Amino acid sequence: MIILGLESSCDETGAAIFCTTKGLISHAVHSQIEIHKNYGGVVPELASRDHIYRIIPLVKKVLKLGNLDINDIDAIAYTAGPGLAGCLLIATTIAQAISWAREIPMVPIHHLEGHFLSPLLSEPKPNFPFLSLLVSGGHTQLIHVHDIGKYTLLGETLDDAVGEAFDKIAKLLGLNYPGGASLEKLAKLGNPDAIVLPKPLIYKPNLDFSFSGLKTAVYKKIKTFSSPINDNIRADLAAAVQYTITNLLIIKSIKALKKTKLQNFTIVGGVGSNMFLRKEFKKALKPMNTNIFFPSMNFCTDNAAMIALAGAKRIDKGLVSFDLNVKNNKYFDIKPRWDIRNL
Ligand code: KG4
Ligand code: ZN
Repeated sequence: MIILGLESSCDETGAAIFCTTKGLISHAVHSQIEIHKNYGGVVPELASRDHIYRIIPLVKKVLKLGNLDINDIDAIAYTAGPGLAGCLLIATTIAQAISWAREIPMVPIHHLEGHFLSPLLSEPKPNFPFLSLLVSGGHTQLIHVHDIGKYTLLGETLDDAVGEAFDKIAKLLGLNYPGGASLEKLAKLGNPDAIVLPKPLIYKPNLDFSFSGLKTAVYKKIKTFSSPINDNIRADLAAAVQYTITNLLIIKSIKALKKTKLQNFTIVGGVGSNMFLRKEFKKALKPMNTNIFFPSMNFCTDNAAMIALAGAKRIDKGLVSFDLNVKNNKYFDIKPRWDIRNL
């Protein structure tokens, strides 16, 4: 079966083709960073308008890359939520148009399920069950992934997501949006021990996180230096932030691994592309004999390959709730606030 995947939940437009026998055939992403960086964050209206321009050329591109025709597609998987409503409508509308015209099923996918399954796009792949740490711009969660479609939420952030914390602190340090990757670059020049920052919730036995206090602590620290802060202090602050966030994530992940007794561990989402974080996790988990898996770099941030893969796996498992007789599906829905517990 050949599945077309579509993603437009936030500021990346993606299309991909996944074959149930051959694996990923092709994928393409268009990032809107250039549009949003002038505003310091995603502007929803501009994001949804750009998705409209990008999505059909991207579908054509992945078909061409795969040497395929739209008539070769057997099903369409698309991100139905969570995300920005106006953005979700774009992939959903295109999915429905193709589904009706071609009389093929469309499969709504939870964006976070795409992230949880993204390590299955690379080698070596983790076996089920595994623990997943999702660290993206919108979410920070520890999830027990039992199997396709079977997820238990173990803990999550009580305030800012970890990517959001990176972005907000990067802004305080005068870096451009999205700040995560720029902060990582700046941190390479700094000393993580020069400035000590608080580690919220580490002594609490639960698996929840909190990052908004960290942002306030950095803000207050900046105020103690004469303005504007010099480059050495900026680099030390960036290094301390990266070190503190990574440590918080490691402490809670080890707690979750001990609690669940899982042997396989994955880190997914945009922040998972941070090389310092990857290295520190490998070091910390070595004594536990935990197998650690990462998606390849281009599948950490938002993409449609993970959505097409999730669609293929759901169809394979018979988990598709959509009526496969497309003519019965006169309505479609988007779920901007879809909770993973209601999957
Ligand atoms: O998964 P993603 O593409 O989008 C969401 O679904 O939210 O994650 C984007 C987030 C942004 O906050 C970005 O700053 C962060 O991932 N990010 C990083 C790095 N690369 C991207 N954070 C830290 N270090 C990086 N190298
Ligand atoms: Zn995402």
